Amino acid sequence: MPDPHGLTGIGSLITNDPNLGDGPLGIMRDAAILIDGDRIAWVGPAGELDSSVPVVDLESRAVIPGFVDSHAHLVFAGDRSAEFAARMTGESYAAGGIRTTVMATRAASDDALRVRTRDLADELARSGVTTFETKSGYGLTVEDEARSLRIAREFTDETTFLGAHVVPEGIDADSYVELVCGAMLEACADNARWIDVFCDRGAFDVDQARQILSAGMARGLLPRIHANQLQHGGGVQLAVELDAASADHCTHLDDADIEALAGSKTVATLLPGAEFSTRAAYPAARRLLDAGATVALATDCNPGSSYTTSMPLMVALAVREMRMSPDEALWSATAGGARALRRTDVGVITSGARADLVSLDAPDHVHLAYRPGVDLIDRVWVSGHLRPTRKQR
Ligand code: NIG
Ligand code: FE
Repeated sequence: MPDPHGLTGIGSLITNDPNLGDGPLGIMRDAAILIDGDRIAWVGPAGELDSSVPVVDLESRAVIPGFVDSHAHLVFAGDRSAEFAARMTGESYAAGGIRTTVMATRAASDDALRVRTRDLADELARSGVTTFETKSGYGLTVEDEARSLRIAREFTDETTFLGAHVVPEGIDADSYVELVCGAMLEACADNARWIDVFCDRGAFDVDQARQILSAGMARGLLPRIHANQLQHGGGVQLAVELDAASADHCTHLDDADIEALAGSKTVATLLPGAEFSTRAAYPAARRLLDAGATVALATDCNPGSSYTTSMPLMVALAVREMRMSPDEALWSATAGGARALRRTDVGVITSGARADLVSLDAPDHVHLAYRPGVDLIDRVWVSGHLRPTRKQR
């Protein structure tokens, strides 16, 4: 389609801008969108669209902002289906499983890692994701972390240095923390926007996490934390203390954690794929939302605890298992993810935003939870360009 061009025949349009339509999602009916280059040039009543531009008729489909997946681990080799099968028959999930993937990742060629990352990035796009974050964390040597981030950077600007995923074999914890804060950070920082630590049982404690995140911040990276996934601990409070963009997982929260998140700019990023795949209790989304915290939903795509790229599945789990309303879940999977990445140009359909849009084979967004497991992604536009999906016409 040449530029500029319009989208018409939109059954319902989620703008995430309350000034444009109804409720917090800013829902518009009988709306049209004008795309110019990589940006949305105009959103308004269909009757007011410039009649000289070519249009795509969406035949009453819903249009939503592209999903913003603010937490994924795409650079790895191998899989852990045997570990999953053992878990489904009684084993419990532990951080140590990460080391299995570390061995496979170190043994893989750059090209093998690149192809796997590309395939997962394509899967994300087919599930309607138009912005995603991805981490290192399965290399855990200076060279392997640096190459993971080099490869990650080929696919997204939202890259995260997670050298502090677990302490690898053959080195004691203190020496490893020193390495992460020193030579590893130096080798990784130029290809990372964020720094992350797995602050939990079997990984790093709060003092180690503070030391690592502070070193990253001093090198110009922005903090985010894997916090309170496996047990209650001080990770969420540390996230708030450091003004981290996000505390991720939040599976074990007490009242003080919820209050701290609600009174901060730190987003609570919930990853229900991890609870689903580790058969754990879901996080207290309702309590977070009722307290006024900002909630994001993300896939946590990784080979151990959540091997899925499906944001529609996250929406369905959030609604069915975590008692989020369909509106709240859609917001958290789009605008919420944007907040967790401190981005204002994505997660919304407003004039000037990036033209990242998804049309659904459904009249409204509620169908994402109402029709679980059904591929409702019709077309996906990233920066104004139509991406190939399975259903491409
Ligand atoms: O987000 N929590 C730490 N990291 C991943 C799991 C990684 C793995 O098991 O390979 C997560 O769940
Ligand atoms: Fe994760």
